[in-house]
Amino acid sequence: MARITVDGAPIEVPDGSMLLPALLDHGIQIPHYCFHPKLSIDGSCRMCMVRVEGMPKLTISCNTPVRDGMVVDTCGPEVAKARQGVLEMLLLNHPLDCPICDQAGECYLQDYAFEYGTRRARTQEPRRTLLKRVDVGPRVVLDQERCILCRRCVRFCREITKTRELGVFNLGDRSVLDIFLGEPLANNYSICTADICPVGALLSKDFHHAMRVWFLDETESVCPSCANGCNVKVGTARRSVYRLLPRRNDHVNDTWMCDHGRLTYRFVNERRLREPRVRRAGSLVPVPWEDALDEAARRLGALARVDGGGALAAIVSPHLTNEELFVLGRMIAGGLRTAQRAVAVRLGAADDFLIKAEKAANGRGARDLGLTTAADEIDVAGIRAGIETGRIRGLFVTGTDVWELWGEESAALLARLELLVVQTANEHPLAARADVVLPGLTFAEKDGTFTNSAGRVQRIRRALDPGEQPSDGEIFLRLGRRLGMELPPGRFEPAEVFAEITRTIVRYRDLSWNALGSLGLPTGEP
Ligand code: FES
Repeated sequence: MARITVDGAPIEVPDGSMLLPALLDHGIQIPHYCFHPKLSIDGSCRMCMVRVEGMPKLTISCNTPVRDGMVVDTCGPEVAKARQGVLEMLLLNHPLDCPICDQAGECYLQDYAFEYGTRRARTQEPRRTLLKRVDVGPRVVLDQERCILCRRCVRFCREITKTRELGVFNLGDRSVLDIFLGEPLANNYSICTADICPVGALLSKDFHHAMRVWFLDETESVCPSCANGCNVKVGTARRSVYRLLPRRNDHVNDTWMCDHGRLTYRFVNERRLREPRVRRAGSLVPVPWEDALDEAARRLGALARVDGGGALAAIVSPHLTNEELFVLGRMIAGGLRTAQRAVAVRLGAADDFLIKAEKAANGRGARDLGLTTAADEIDVAGIRAGIETGRIRGLFVTGTDVWELWGEESAALLARLELLVVQTANEHPLAARADVVLPGLTFAEKDGTFTNSAGRVQRIRRALDPGEQPSDGEIFLRLGRRLGMELPPGRFEPAEVFAEITRTIVRYRDLSWNALGSLGLPTGEP
């Protein structure tokens, strides 16, 4: 560590690190545009200038290594004047369209102009006009007038995705950001360029003019789309999710996330099942919760007594939280009294960066908690075979992924069953074929944990209030009680169930709900 003095106060920072990130880590605010902690240093915006004692002139802190004994001034009059100058130059041509800019409210140019800039423009000449809505790719739109040429996006495409779609063309005051001819910005992580754009030049088409950011509540959570478990912030307003933004976690996703994961939030808002349904005279009709649970328990219970549980099977969703899976596992064993259970995990394309083949957030959690083990000698294909032979007559399904796993055969297979109980959050052909439908909740409406493919346990937090709708864990508890299980009284409390998991599952024994914090913790050795 090096001891340095910043604005008269001594601090310790890693020797040899760059001054800007070291100061930012200490909570010392230095304005900056082109610097990004996960990209190479560009040193082009000149906004991060500070005075270092012994240096002949101001220096950019993003490219100045820390030296022991350094004395730094980050806010003296000379530094303030330099910042004002940089801002004045950036604003010479910047359009005054904050009222219609999606970045307004979280714009570095806006913030720094208020904090460090001057109130009046000294120029009267017309501002430079450039293209306002360049269709640079399927998911990103570019406003060339707003760009301050910090080149964060250019470096992202060179260094992170290595796809090199973006570049700065022409020289001097004619420089513009654009894509190379015939090379749309279409890589799997393209919307990250909008995240790192400090000024609203690159914008996500999905979020374009959808909601002013100051109306959004943001909740820390985890992307539910694949087994990587990228950390996200869920942006909600008016009881809907408007966007997912990646959240920094150096153990999992740095500061990035894929476009697919980012855009799959819509299932939280659309085609939701809100009331339970029971099949009467061939049609699914809405019924009160108690009636639906009674019917499900009565019919599942009757089949559970056939063939020592051999007539009943359960398909487990890897989208459930660890706490829900733990309670579900007990309900399957003690209530449904069957050993025939399998986790339906869809597989898909993967890359060598963040996208994992398992298209669910918690397949690893389901395996850790014993929802599927080799000893069971049964998997989704085994349950399918059991249905085909007529041995399995009833199925309790959570989630809908099994529909895709069984493909075109799904409808014919399910038609062979005497009883199909489906618990899921959205309208789906699988739910449409059920005898009892129990509406579940999505990741955005729950507290709980997911375990990612690397074995890191991470918290998800409730971003939307589901109102009176019970959580999936609560449904398992209520079903279990109706099926004759002796369960402790009270509601489903994820923190309490997690404590029980840490007492039961060896790999989880060193974890605690509170210690998981924002970034999660790795599980131990089994
Ligand atoms: Fe240092 Fe841009 S942040 S020059």
